[in-house]
Amino acid sequence: MTLKALFAATATAALLLSLPASAAQLTIGFSQIGSESGWRAAETSVSKQEAAKRQVNLKIADAQQKQENQIKAIRSFIAQGVDAIFLAPVVASGWEGVLKEAKEAKIPVVLLDRDIDPSGKELYLTAVTSDSVHEGAVAGEWLAKTVGDKSCNVVELQGTVGASVATNRKKGFDSVVAKHANLKVVRSQTGDFTRAKGKEVMESFIKAENGGKSICAVYAHNDDMMVGAIQAMKEAGLKPGKDVLTVSIDAVPDIFKAMAAGEANATVELTPNMAGPALDTIIAYKEKGTAPPKWIQTESKLYTAADDPMKIYESKKGLGY
Ligand code: AHR
Repeated sequence: MTLKALFAATATAALLLSLPASAAQLTIGFSQIGSESGWRAAETSVSKQEAAKRQVNLKIADAQQKQENQIKAIRSFIAQGVDAIFLAPVVASGWEGVLKEAKEAKIPVVLLDRDIDPSGKELYLTAVTSDSVHEGAVAGEWLAKTVGDKSCNVVELQGTVGASVATNRKKGFDSVVAKHANLKVVRSQTGDFTRAKGKEVMESFIKAENGGKSICAVYAHNDDMMVGAIQAMKEAGLKPGKDVLTVSIDAVPDIFKAMAAGEANATVELTPNMAGPALDTIIAYKEKGTAPPKWIQTESKLYTAADDPMKIYESKKGLGY
């Protein structure tokens, strides 16, 4: 080896040693649900960026909305001996067996954006999620305030059946409806968090509700279903955002576009950056043994047409939605 080559090799070794040792060596398996919504696509892409920033090797397995695929992916991560597992659980129940296997293998599990049944609490290290009951309540409070005393029939598009966020967003919204006699949820059905199903279910609501004339507002558990519902309302000759109020959750760029066009009214933001706090937590846990709180809560902020929707659209559109 020449002297120059020796210097270069020494410099490279010094650079590698100066990286945060454990972060540079960590391999984390992420069992992602799939790509059912714009928010989900953004979460996947932000997770990759956040891992790259911290030089973590993040292996993402796309479960295509199936719990059985998530269980297989977790078993494969355990077999590979990863340092930690991130799990976005498609539904809340049925995780005990596989999470016990991870625990026995001493691999910490972090839940991202959805919860599991309370009985499984000792099987994961921490959960990075929003307060999804609160999100539903924020949506409900906005509607109650907007309609005032007027009587208002609401149709609801629920998320995936059995998903913690669908159960909780319903619960939060219903808690507000229960306090206002003028608000009534007249129809409620799952649209599985997708645009296509949101549109399909909204079409059936419109048919069943006198061509939509008796619908005062639509509450959707995510913006993608609302974008589908807006399309269905327009095709039926209704004016979403004007004749029919809309409130949904996520704050994806397309809902701000709809707001700017006067076709949507409100959304509650869910950050797609769940991985950043999860990665920091795992790095601190591995490096210093710092035990995180059981729940790392993300913010839930309400946006309406008064918030310069086109500006927000521009700021969000490059984030992988
Ligand atoms: O768990 C978060 C939810 O999952 C998002 O609100 C929805 O868009 C996604 O599919």
